[in-house]
Amino acid sequence: MYVCICNSVSDRDIRRAAEAGVRSFVELQAHTGCSTTCGCCEALARQVLNEAVAETCMQLPAAAAA
Ligand code: FES
Repeated sequence: MYVCICNSVSDRDIRRAAEAGVRSFVELQAHTGCSTTCGCCEALARQVLNEAVAETCMQLPAAAAA
């Protein structure tokens, strides 16, 4: 689904960004352009990013977390 209509950023784009190392909302904006126009999507974009980062971190091997 589209999260940011203004910049055509989908939840998949946000998940891919998290997998590529994006960890903060500012980084997400720089990486995808999400929420850089009207800002209406910010709350949803933050929610999707937080979930994506949590999922990405849970997939790290145990050795990487040590
Ligand atoms: S909907 Fe994302 S900046 Fe407008």
